[in-house]
Amino acid sequence: MLDIHQTKSFEMPTKVMTGVGSLKELPQVLEDENISYPLLVTDEGIIEAGILEKVERVLTAASIDYHVYSEVIANPDIATVDRGAEIFADQGCDGLLALGGGSSIDTAKGIGVIATHGGSIKEYEFGKKPLTKRITPLIALPTTAGTGSEVTMWSVITDHERQVKYNVGGPLIAPYVALIDPELHVSMPSHITAGTGMDALAHAIECYTSHYAQPMTDSVALLAIEYCGKYLRRAVANSIDMEARFYMAQAAMLAGLSYGSESAGAVHAMTQSLGGIKPDVPHGAAVGALLAPVMRYNWMGQPAKFKRIAQALGENVWDLTDKKAALIGVEAVQGLADDVGIPSIKELGIKEEEIPLLAKAAEDDPQTIGNPRDVNREAYEEIYRYAYNNS
Ligand SMILES: [Fe+2]
Repeated sequence: MLDIHQTKSFEMPTKVMTGVGSLKELPQVLEDENISYPLLVTDEGIIEAGILEKVERVLTAASIDYHVYSEVIANPDIATVDRGAEIFADQGCDGLLALGGGSSIDTAKGIGVIATHGGSIKEYEFGKKPLTKRITPLIALPTTAGTGSEVTMWSVITDHERQVKYNVGGPLIAPYVALIDPELHVSMPSHITAGTGMDALAHAIECYTSHYAQPMTDSVALLAIEYCGKYLRRAVANSIDMEARFYMAQAAMLAGLSYGSESAGAVHAMTQSLGGIKPDVPHGAAVGALLAPVMRYNWMGQPAKFKRIAQALGENVWDLTDKKAALIGVEAVQGLADDVGIPSIKELGIKEEEIPLLAKAAEDDPQTIGNPRDVNREAYEEIYRYAYNNS
């Protein structure tokens, strides 16, 4: 329930530019942000897919010099960020260009933190050493439609020593510009389109139903849910369906905005803690496998909002009770996950005997706090067991 007597805030520090072919605006964007020698942060997969080449063509045609840092790994860790920051300083770069999915953008955000604050990214976990200055100018060029990192105020970093993923962030870490060109998304393999798309849907559903929700974030979350329902199957089925790519890119960005400066809920408490313990499990696939089971547990905390989710997904539930409609919404999300080929948590390598440990880790994750229904270790175990036995 929205507490209308509580003061809430929403910040949007990022300029969003979007359109098919909008990559051509990059030289002007760099000039507007006073970046003359960017560090281009990306990963080997982006190079192999020929996406870096597309960007390099635009930069070279405009005679813009840059340095490539392509050591980004999935679930970027402290060493990846610290090494990038070292290269940024050694090269004398004056801005950051992140090309990739959430991992590249989060790495670039981390490099921006060190470039302006010094030290190592391990010092800046949210709630410990606060950020005091806006990071180095950062342009985000997302190549997936999922994390929404191009507009979020968070960077998720893996700490192998503690076996956790932790957040660095707040409004000072947001990219300066998100340049969203769906033409950069067409080479995404279908399983990545599926996983990242389910991640976007989860951000929207979790933030819409979270204790942190407010009308400003509800509005963007609902449209993101609608776009995922309408376009994710098409984007997975036909990689060059540009209309589907465009709207999934919008969905990811809008869902990222629905995060605001807050956090998500139980799905992300589970998957973020899971990622710290089992870093090889892809975030999007894990989110896709757990979203409907968590909704099945959560709907009772926000019945009317879960009815509205079913409506946003195109289900005809107007004359149904909140309970019936909410459960139809849960089925709609499970149906979407099944249609786009999301693997089960068993297929993702989670063993039944690991469930108590994973449930405990989820309970300790800070994203648990916003969840619409009270959730503790026992409840997380129940959700994990339901997902394990019903897919
Ligand atoms: Fe996510």
